[in-house]
Amino acid sequence: MRSEHRTTPVRSRERSTVTSATAVAHPNIALIKYWGKRDEHLVLPWTDSLSMTLDIFPTTTRVRLAPEAEHDEVTLDGVPVAGEARRRVVAFLELVRERAGLPQRAVVETENTVPTGAGLASSASGFAALAVAAASTYGLDLDATALSRLARRGSGSASRSIFGGFALWHAGRHTGTATDTDLSSYAEPVPAGGLDPALVIAVVDAGPKAVPSREAMRRTVETSPLYRPWAASSKDDLVGMREALRRADLDAVGEVAERNALGMHATMLAARPAVRYLSAATLTVLDSVLRLRRDGTPAYATMDAGPNVKVLCRRADAERVAEAVRGTVPGCSVHIAGPGPGARLLNEGG
Ligand code: PMV
Repeated sequence: MRSEHRTTPVRSRERSTVTSATAVAHPNIALIKYWGKRDEHLVLPWTDSLSMTLDIFPTTTRVRLAPEAEHDEVTLDGVPVAGEARRRVVAFLELVRERAGLPQRAVVETENTVPTGAGLASSASGFAALAVAAASTYGLDLDATALSRLARRGSGSASRSIFGGFALWHAGRHTGTATDTDLSSYAEPVPAGGLDPALVIAVVDAGPKAVPSREAMRRTVETSPLYRPWAASSKDDLVGMREALRRADLDAVGEVAERNALGMHATMLAARPAVRYLSAATLTVLDSVLRLRRDGTPAYATMDAGPNVKVLCRRADAERVAEAVRGTVPGCSVHIAGPGPGARLLNEGG
């Protein structure tokens, strides 16, 4: 089941506020990772990153103005959200309200189909959908680039989910004195014509992650002796990745993606104290990827802030790769994703 790419999402809105708007966005998986912020408040990364937006696990978010309410109301799959997750959504809405010059509170209802917090980028689809829906509801007229910058403030990787297919998130200018008016950090689509990729997602553990990625990044940047060397080599990886995508060379894309991800995990393992997302089950899946390669099937692994493994392969090989991976870890669920669409508005109430 594949959906068509949309590299350009619908503009958020052309006129003033509506009473509600609903947006849908898909997660993305980074092939060149974002790991480490140079500015936590503005969510400015140290390095550029590049990802593929998926055609599975969409997040749908409805934002409705609640003029009488004193507080924002936030629900996920019908259940009220509390704690840090709620704080992040409210902080995001504050940003939108400030820009729109409108004080009204909102009701935010999110339906997630991706296992939340399992290193499967639910925050990317979540904040991309929230950015599109909230911008529309509060009457901000934003193009795709501006929506990407806005989504970035909720979660860095969300900047890339604004776009379909492959997207490159520019780290932006390293001025040392970044402000809210700095426009240099945003994502944009990257052409990858001719490549017919799939990501086979092996969910070995759908539970929440032990260390939130925000904290893990901070610790890695501050304490890992491997962080700077990885950030430097990530620049070369990006050059190699762009060239490989241009040539539609799946083996080269996979090789660069795998080494970039393993390097990122090495930085965390060297942090003090270490951050280890990879589990025994992760390594078992990685062994099966090596076996596939040894037997002549191009297959390359990448992992995020969790133990789950995403295997990049040709679309034509996806079922076989899924079968090989499925058998390796008991209880492991396997999903096949292709390149998916960018974030878009579903409807608007007036
Ligand atoms: O956007 P965040 O804060 O959830 O960070 C995502 C970081 C990784 O998934 C590990 C890498 C990436 O580029 O998506």
